Amino acid sequence: MVDEAINKAQGKSFTVHAPGTVANMVCGFDVLGLALNDPYDIMTIKLIEEPTVVIHNIDSYDLPTEPERNVTGVALLEMIAQLDNKTGFDITIEKRIKPGSGVGSSAASSAGAVVAANHLLGNIFKNDDLVQMAMFGEKLASGVKHADNIAPCIIGGVTLIRSIMPLDIISVPSPPLYVTVVHPQIEVRTEDARQILKKQILLKDAIRQWGNIAGLVAGLMKSDYKLISRSLEDVLIEPVRSILIPAFAEVKAKSLEAGALGGGISGSGPSIFMLSKNEAAAFAVENAMQEVYTKTGIDYHTYVTTINTQGVKVVE
Ligand code: HSE
Repeated sequence: MVDEAINKAQGKSFTVHAPGTVANMVCGFDVLGLALNDPYDIMTIKLIEEPTVVIHNIDSYDLPTEPERNVTGVALLEMIAQLDNKTGFDITIEKRIKPGSGVGSSAASSAGAVVAANHLLGNIFKNDDLVQMAMFGEKLASGVKHADNIAPCIIGGVTLIRSIMPLDIISVPSPPLYVTVVHPQIEVRTEDARQILKKQILLKDAIRQWGNIAGLVAGLMKSDYKLISRSLEDVLIEPVRSILIPAFAEVKAKSLEAGALGGGISGSGPSIFMLSKNEAAAFAVENAMQEVYTKTGIDYHTYVTTINTQGVKVVE
């Protein structure tokens, strides 16, 4: 089957769009994530004979091109090993998701690449296999395997990662939601943002957190916006990590005043995201975020988008 897939893929090339993602969704550290319609990375892939990965970066981020040091590279090397080293890949990457921004830049690089490669090979791998391969990228980027960016990037929508060993990923249906993001132009390394977390938590805090996670999932499945809103609370991670993000408390307070359902740190930050029920609220939240950040003097970007229900998309 592998030989046939490789033969058929000769001379072909495909381009994909790999979406940004919001991991954690406030209360679901490492277990919940959603995919965004904007921003996304663009990647084009083709086969090469040698069992290695040749990386061409066509953006300004100067990421390493040695496959062992690049999140795309390690994910594709894992796929090559599973193909018994019978082929390699040449990939051109235009990153539009800034590395270290907190909207799943590394996940888009690794997940986009394995989906593109799988498409080239006639989809011989299952989504779970692709998630496993892409997690090698997360391990390189943050020191730990986690799938709360990878899974929504590949599958789209809101995903629950009940377990990574064994892998157990559940798509959670969601009502229409708008996502407003502010990205202060500072870098927070996921590895650092994980190291500062407490290793032990109090039972009373754990109870509050799992009540919120269950409430959020139930709220999404029942399209109950009020339940979604009151479940967007994080008593474990946000109190520690928010100190890394300038004006976090003010952005949150003003966004809620402007009509957001709720929100918090996107992934490990520094981006902050807010969910809203309708477009008007999402733009009011964007204004509120801009007002707060303009005062700080820190450069920032804001954008309003919606949930991407498709995941990585093959475009040509
Ligand atoms: N769940 C991970 C974390 C996501 O918060 O560290 C990193 O993007």
